[in-house]
Amino acid sequence: MNDGSAKNVLIEKMSSSVAIITLNRPEAANALSKKLLFEFHGILQELKNDGDIRAVILTGAGEKAFCAGADLKERKEMSENEARRTVRLIAGAVSELASLPQPVIAALNGAAFGGGMELALACDLRIGSLNAQMGLTETSLGIIPGAGGTQRLPRLIGPGKAKELIFTAKRLNAREAESIGLLEYAVPANQLQETALKWAADIAKNAPLALIQSKVAINKGLEVDLETGLKIEELAYSALIPSQDRLEGLKAFAEKRPPVFKGR
Ligand code: COA
Repeated sequence: MNDGSAKNVLIEKMSSSVAIITLNRPEAANALSKKLLFEFHGILQELKNDGDIRAVILTGAGEKAFCAGADLKERKEMSENEARRTVRLIAGAVSELASLPQPVIAALNGAAFGGGMELALACDLRIGSLNAQMGLTETSLGIIPGAGGTQRLPRLIGPGKAKELIFTAKRLNAREAESIGLLEYAVPANQLQETALKWAADIAKNAPLALIQSKVAINKGLEVDLETGLKIEELAYSALIPSQDRLEGLKAFAEKRPPVFKGR
């Protein structure tokens, strides 16, 4: 049980250059309280400047919830101004997550609703346990998704499906989420962690600067017309030409050995 002083967000850095962030308020379905958001902000600041971390996994503590979104109990006591500030705080945290340079995998161990689903949408890849559920439930609470959900969901699954989910506040099970591309994969709960770690390790063995540039090229390119996107790709590629890791890739290939990338 968490008292007020316990950590609401945990970070574990593995020897494989993978970091696991765990939202840690299982007694409150890992809902986004102000304390949790401040801790999350601190961890993202640390990770974005940590060149040793090449891939990140975001998950939730316990078996029921990844994150139940905004802390609705805290919200109930807030003035309109406080509510506005907290919505901005959540939106800011989700944007900070989206702009981490490293690839981020959401490992959905349970329900991801409202802001919890918006966190998952801000990740690069999503994998869920078969007991995961997903939904932007806000319209059933008299509000709308306020942390990128109205923008990132249609970009991911198309406007029709996104409107269906947002207008109906529908809760999808893992198989349904997988079938519309909201989850890359749904796996049995007891395989979630090992699958996410395997995926992260497969990513982390590749050249860190190439991962960063491919994330930029894909994300920025999705916002523009094809011609501009191809220019973005060219610039991202060109940033890698002087890198030591590019030469290491060629050398390792010639020497028939795995490359040792340094992120330089
Ligand atoms: N904010 C604050 N507390 C929350 C919460 C939220 N968003 N979601 C759940 N909790 C609390 C519950 O009130 C409960 O606390 P209690 O034991 O003091 O009553 C505890 O977390 C466990 O939740 P409970 O509903 O009993 O567990 P469950 O496993 O049956 O269901 C959920 C978990 C996440 C599916 C369910 O709680 C839920 O649907 N929550 C609302 C999610 C939502 O619509 N979020 C959108 C916010 S914009």
